[in-house]
Amino acid sequence: MNRLPGYLFRAVSFERNRLRILDQTQLPHRVAYLYPTSAVEVAAIIKRLAVRGAPAIGVAAAYGLAVEARRLPVARLSQGLEQAARTLAAARPTAVNLKWAVVRVMQSVAVGGPTPAAVRRAVTKEARTIEAEEVERSLAMARHGAKLLPKNAEVLTICNTGALAAPGLGTALGVVFQAHIDGKRPHVYACETRPLLQGSRLTTLELQRAKIPVTLIADSAAASVIDRCDVVLVGADRIAANGDTANKVGTRMLATLARAARKPFYVVAPSSTFDPGTRNGNQIVVEERDGEEVRAFAGCRAAPARTAVFNPAFDVTPARLITGFITDRGILSPPYRRSITRPLARTWRRGRERDAARAGMPGP
Ligand code: MRU
Repeated sequence: MNRLPGYLFRAVSFERNRLRILDQTQLPHRVAYLYPTSAVEVAAIIKRLAVRGAPAIGVAAAYGLAVEARRLPVARLSQGLEQAARTLAAARPTAVNLKWAVVRVMQSVAVGGPTPAAVRRAVTKEARTIEAEEVERSLAMARHGAKLLPKNAEVLTICNTGALAAPGLGTALGVVFQAHIDGKRPHVYACETRPLLQGSRLTTLELQRAKIPVTLIADSAAASVIDRCDVVLVGADRIAANGDTANKVGTRMLATLARAARKPFYVVAPSSTFDPGTRNGNQIVVEERDGEEVRAFAGCRAAPARTAVFNPAFDVTPARLITGFITDRGILSPPYRRSITRPLARTWRRGRERDAARAGMPGP
């Protein structure tokens, strides 16, 4: 971890068997931490977006199982962990990293050993491995992506995709951090990202701490700046096998805009966000959140109390609008069915074999 610049936040950490989660609902006003001691608490923290961003919630859930394993009495360890895994995996439906991390930790339990102490050790070890792997992936994505940016790049982005959203450097913002480290002097237009303002609360804060120039725009101002931009960079919560991509609501709008303005539109995501089990975007479940998030903000009414609201947290960008995927395995270009499947096939096969072994069935 000491290869990471000091200005980066650490959204989730687990030290001396204590889970610490940075409460992102308090940012940018206050840096405050939560110390959950059960999986139910971690699931609630994920649901209310105190920790958010696909890889970050995967890591938080993995450590949620670690704290649960320590809390559960020996007699209920196995059954209690299964229950906790279900609760954590259901906390948010769209980000595939959440379920992926929970399944991985539970698979490590299956092979962890016969004693409760061995089970607890296995859970913690797997959670730590997942976090360390995500850090490595973020560094690799950033290296691949930064090469694509010209000097003085003008970047348009949405939501928050920095260290607050993914361990290490983050995803789309990780590319910007790396370009900055390489001396390319990038400048970012950050969409504020209504309704919960991850762009204005979090992305501006992370960039300012790194001393990277950032200009905040209302989401509806994106069309007014696109001609000045060199590239649009966004993250992802789930990427289907054909390249259709779920990300923060508003992403599809930027992709459509980029296509109309003939600007490159890249999705920056680790291999853990690709989901071989989802054939295309129609199969992605998009989380719908409470209408009150749109009718009000921070306790202030923004619409009459009973106004009908549609509040999807994500949208799905069709693969045909995506110039490429910047991943830890390199840059993937169309046609995606082939370019996505090839580098990830081995990882996916291993996953399927582990699933089959766990279910006591023969491998494919
Ligand atoms: O609802 P959020 O804040 O969890 O949404 C986060 C995003 O949409 C990010 O762009 C995505 O998780 C990828 S970046 C790590």
